Amino acid sequence: MSKQCTCGRSQSYPFCDNTHAQPSHPVIQTINPHAFSYFNKKDSAENVVVQVPKFISKGMSKDLIDVFEKDELWQDVGFHKASNLFHIDFTGNKELADLWEELVSTIKRATEIVFKDKVVNTGLYIQKWPEGSYGIKHNDMYNFDGSIGNLTSRIATTLFLHSPFTGGNLEFPDHELAIEPKMGSLYLFKGGPDNEHQIAEITSGLRYTVIAFWDFESSTYTDEELQGMEDSKKKWENYMKTGEGL
Ligand SMILES: [Fe+2]
Repeated sequence: MSKQCTCGRSQSYPFCDNTHAQPSHPVIQTINPHAFSYFNKKDSAENVVVQVPKFISKGMSKDLIDVFEKDELWQDVGFHKASNLFHIDFTGNKELADLWEELVSTIKRATEIVFKDKVVNTGLYIQKWPEGSYGIKHNDMYNFDGSIGNLTSRIATTLFLHSPFTGGNLEFPDHELAIEPKMGSLYLFKGGPDNEHQIAEITSGLRYTVIAFWDFESSTYTDEELQGMEDSKKKWENYMKTGEGL
């Protein structure tokens, strides 16, 4: 008789077939600031990125990737030479859907701990980076021409699912910082122009990330800023349809 898995999930496949790593829980339960790693600006104590280790288990990463790979809604976003999945279909997979909800709310909790303020989610999608893809230097709030993009992308969080790859470092050239991501870990940083970032070319494997953006609950915007965001959204929608206009 097979031994009961300790992952806490149903023993009926595909949730647990006793073949995955067996953590106490698929999503981190206790966010321990003593376990954070800090990546600083060059010659400065100022933090650029905070790493929260072991945020998601190998087993849950595998289950999620299986669902993502069945989804036909992947969009080639051109800009990154990567593809994005904006709507995840958990139909018939309630247990994993519940774990996903828990994962997102735990990312929110981690964000509030790191940035010491209440936040709201302003974006959430999966990003897949195949061999040869890379992301050019950008920030998450303004467009390349400096116009208003999405000011609510004030904080970016990137969760690396367990999927082996080489290359693909998260780089902050202005801070002379190149982070070699640890699978299963969460990285948090401010998305604005002070933190321009890029993704080094993926040299092998497949880099899967859960990307989320957060704004502070207390943020307010002028009419001009709201109009700028609306204009930018239309430009992006047009770019996604036609590949032009950015
Ligand atoms: Fe970004």
